[in-house]
Amino acid sequence: MRVQSQRRKILGRIELRRIEEAGLKLVKTAAELCPQCAGTGWKTLSATPSAPEDKDRRVTRCDCQLRARSQTLLTGARIPRRYEHCELGSYTTDLPGANPSLALALISASKFAQEYDPREGAGLLIIGKIGTGKTHLAVGIIKELINKGIPCLFYDYRELLKEIQNSYNTTVQTTELDVLRPVFETDVLVLDELGAVKPTEWVGDTVSLILNARYNDNRTTIITTNLPNLKKGTYKSNLIPSSKEAAEQAMQDATLGDRIGEPMRSRLHEMCRIIELDGDDFRKGARSASARFR
Ligand SMILES: Nc1ncnc2c1ncn2[C@@H]1O[C@H](COP(=O)(O)OP(=O)(O)O)[C@@H](O)[C@H]1O
Ligand SMILES: [Mg+2]
Ligand SMILES: [Zn+2]
Repeated sequence: MRVQSQRRKILGRIELRRIEEAGLKLVKTAAELCPQCAGTGWKTLSATPSAPEDKDRRVTRCDCQLRARSQTLLTGARIPRRYEHCELGSYTTDLPGANPSLALALISASKFAQEYDPREGAGLLIIGKIGTGKTHLAVGIIKELINKGIPCLFYDYRELLKEIQNSYNTTVQTTELDVLRPVFETDVLVLDELGAVKPTEWVGDTVSLILNARYNDNRTTIITTNLPNLKKGTYKSNLIPSSKEAAEQAMQDATLGDRIGEPMRSRLHEMCRIIELDGDDFRKGARSASARFR
């Protein structure tokens, strides 16, 4: 146990040092070019603008410092390339035939980003079929938060599980804790496509570990899922057991409860407000809309 906590501490220090160094590098380059503060990182505010030579001057952090911090946080958030373009401002809700749930979802997402309070820890569960814009909204939210200086981290659910599994490989340097520490500790975590892999005991344990750790520390988690927010066994229980239909359903359909278990599903309801997106795949909609206008 002591060895474990010793190890945690050391890893923590190393990680902090790395982040600080990366931050410093950015601050320095931005500051060197900054005409506002001439590289000091501070700018002077004259107390009385009408008398600029007044002795009573105040200093404040230069904007270049804030920009540099956001830039460091953005790099650290690990938003995948294909979602880099996603912003709340570019989320369309008025395409012909767009489902009204999109506009409501955008309002909730914007409100969430505006009112985010790190002490509160409330998260979001964004539910909807493929292509309804769940990941777009989640990324849009964390970009807004990053601009306010809040540390965020994006992880695809499958990717995270793969990275943890890979850390058990004796030939790699990374430990499980190296992967998990930022996941536990970031202010805001996006877990994209929760439940997208077949559940095994290990998957279940790992997901509970992560969600419970974040819940206990009152940290915000934004989750997206394609799975219907229904109880374990919902589909199967409506069918005659061992029928062909039951077998097919079991293969194809799964509910959130099937994939992460009922205790975790109800934990999510405690941790998160729900945003539901209805409607069709945005990419198909956008294509047919642009075809109509041609
Ligand atoms: N309402 C929308 N406005 C603008 N772009 C959208 C919208 N919905 C989806 N997209 C775009 O369509 C693609 C698929 O959306 P995505 O967020 O990945 O869907 P999901 O995560 O629900 O499967 C992305 O490139 C995204 O930017
Ligand atoms: Mg997605
Ligand atoms: Zn400056």
